[in-house]
Amino acid sequence: MALYNDTVMENFLHPKNVGELENPDGTGVYGSPVCGDMMQIQIKVDNDIITDAKFKTFGCGSAIASSSMATSMIIGKTVEEALELTNKQIINELGGLPPVKIHCSVLADKAIKNAIYDYAMKNGKKYAALEGYDPEADEDEDEHGEAEE
Ligand code: FES
Repeated sequence: MALYNDTVMENFLHPKNVGELENPDGTGVYGSPVCGDMMQIQIKVDNDIITDAKFKTFGCGSAIASSSMATSMIIGKTVEEALELTNKQIINELGGLPPVKIHCSVLADKAIKNAIYDYAMKNGKKYAALEGYDPEADEDEDEHGEAEE
């Protein structure tokens, strides 16, 4: 079956950063308006660097692969750098996802932003990328390609 490439399969079958952190500095939850699946991402932040991240999801294999990749991508980055992460970068790093699965990568992207938003709120931090940010907003209405059956 060639629907999913080896990188996607590897991240789905052996996902990194699954679970919960003991004392997270930020927790973000996001429910997809496209499929109804949920994602939780937690982060640890030290000196403005993301030192750890973990995810839990009700999502599909593509959501698991995306979150495994996305959490790996943000660990070691500054909060500002992590805020720049887009679902397109996650997909590129995975080597591509089928068009009907693009929205699954949005779960990881949005849950990370929501976790950073939570961290920023709790610590009185301000980041330019979060100005006017609404963690409840559904931004991925047009991100999922063709209508799904
Ligand atoms: S996360 Fe819901 S279908 Fe992939």
